[in-house]
Amino acid sequence: MKKKLKVLVLCDGNRPTKIDEDLSKEMKTEDWKTEANVMAALGELGHTAEQLAIFDDVDLVRQKMDSFAPNVLFNLVEQFKNNPGFDQNIVSLLEMQGVPFTGCGATGLTLCKHKGISKKILGHHGIATPNFVVIPRGQRIGRPRQLKFPILVKPVKEEASYGISQASFAQNEEQFRERIAFIHEKHNSDAIAEEYIEGRELYVSLMGNIRLNVFPIRELVFREVPPNEPKIATYKAKWDEEYRKRWGLENQFAENLDSALVAEIGQMCKDIYRLLTIDGYARIDLRLAPDNKIYFIEANPNPHLAADEDFAQSAGKAGLKYPQLIDAIIRLGMNMARG
Ligand SMILES: Nc1ncnc2c1ncn2[C@@H]1O[C@H](COP(=O)(O)OP(=O)(O)O)[C@@H](O)[C@H]1O
Ligand SMILES: [Mg+2]
Repeated sequence: MKKKLKVLVLCDGNRPTKIDEDLSKEMKTEDWKTEANVMAALGELGHTAEQLAIFDDVDLVRQKMDSFAPNVLFNLVEQFKNNPGFDQNIVSLLEMQGVPFTGCGATGLTLCKHKGISKKILGHHGIATPNFVVIPRGQRIGRPRQLKFPILVKPVKEEASYGISQASFAQNEEQFRERIAFIHEKHNSDAIAEEYIEGRELYVSLMGNIRLNVFPIRELVFREVPPNEPKIATYKAKWDEEYRKRWGLENQFAENLDSALVAEIGQMCKDIYRLLTIDGYARIDLRLAPDNKIYFIEANPNPHLAADEDFAQSAGKAGLKYPQLIDAIIRLGMNMARG
């Protein structure tokens, strides 16, 4: 029998919180599904779990570490003061305090979040990425000379498809300028413009620190989107059930990939994971072009962990039941040498 642990589940508060904040209302909502799933799994595993939500006060973590003295911190933090740019800063703090935590370290989180830096590193090592330019706020929006249309315009550092809609798909200079300006002004964010890669949308889940497991590949299919329309996992495509139904969007296991290609994808994703210094667990987004060329789109360390999301689905298909997955993530966090 494995040792039972004291686990502190650290998550985002959406308002200022106290150390003993009552989160029972939130925990019943769809937004807190991951937290609820993880807490339930910890209970099933027989661990002693407590939860702390932080909004703008990191000192709560220190206080809770003192009073609860957990063996490990389960990190579900994605933002600080509603700003998703700061998840790596929270992790930096944990690294400095020498407390074991689950998921990815600060460097991996930082490299993956910046969609320009991650692609530069991977491109340098011969991994296919879309051609791209980063256009910071305050820079004149010129003609995208280095890129071929169609071009996809995104915030350079967002997650969960924030700022991505059908209007992100620019077919000419006017649409390109308009969308860049929109990202700068309305989103308050620097922009990245990438050549649009036509192809299948694949999600590859991996887990490990040194030795890596690659789980069965998921795919987002766009069943009812007409052939000539762009196929993009926009914000609505991810989160709006009605929209998903209308366009036949479904996340499923990728079918009809031959085994050599699956092996190639697996190796490429392991390389990406190591090059971007990811540890713990991650989901890597790829595009598979009609000529079977594989393009890196984005790496997501600490991907959504809800039981019905792609990561847990993939792990489940590999034989890892949800509580066992949560336990494996904890053991990896405790075994990771940091700092
Ligand atoms: N260069 C690209 N070519 C084709 N589709 C893209 C490209 N970049 C992004 N997409 C589409 O947009 C979605 C979201 O982009 P991504 O970079 O993963 O942002 P997020 O971090 O918000 O998930 C992708 O899952 C994919 O469907
Ligand atoms: Mg993505």
